[in-house]
Amino acid sequence: MDYGKLIEKALEAREYSYSPYSHFKVGAALLCEDGKVYTGCNIENRAYGPTNCAERTAFFKAVSEGKRDFTAIAIVGGEEETVWCYPCGVCRQVMAEFCDEESFKIICGKTADEYRVFSLKELLPEMF
Ligand code: THU
Repeated sequence: MDYGKLIEKALEAREYSYSPYSHFKVGAALLCEDGKVYTGCNIENRAYGPTNCAERTAFFKAVSEGKRDFTAIAIVGGEEETVWCYPCGVCRQVMAEFCDEESFKIICGKTADEYRVFSLKELLPEMF
């Protein structure tokens, strides 16, 4: 699957964002090695701490259905218009648990045509 299509799925997932506190809507689309895609959005909570990021929603959906092998994740976010949105430290650590630091690609998109691609190693060097 090309990165533009994966970003479109992340943009669709972003529509489901539950973010009444930050108003920052995030969507993610996680591509498995077998070609299946799991999407996620951020889900906030009035106690703030239980908030789950879009990336972790996608990972936990996939892992809870038996997936372990991942190729790439697309991430889009912003209050209304999308801005450059990079994964938080907690989500990077979750990626490190399941993904190869060189081959797994993190695609931060503004639109299906405008995106930046990183390896996990670039965004989480010297990982635990
Ligand atoms: N958020 C994500 O879902 N993913 C990110 O990569 C960065 C932050 C969410 C958490 C919270 O609901 C909102 O964005 C503002 O921080």
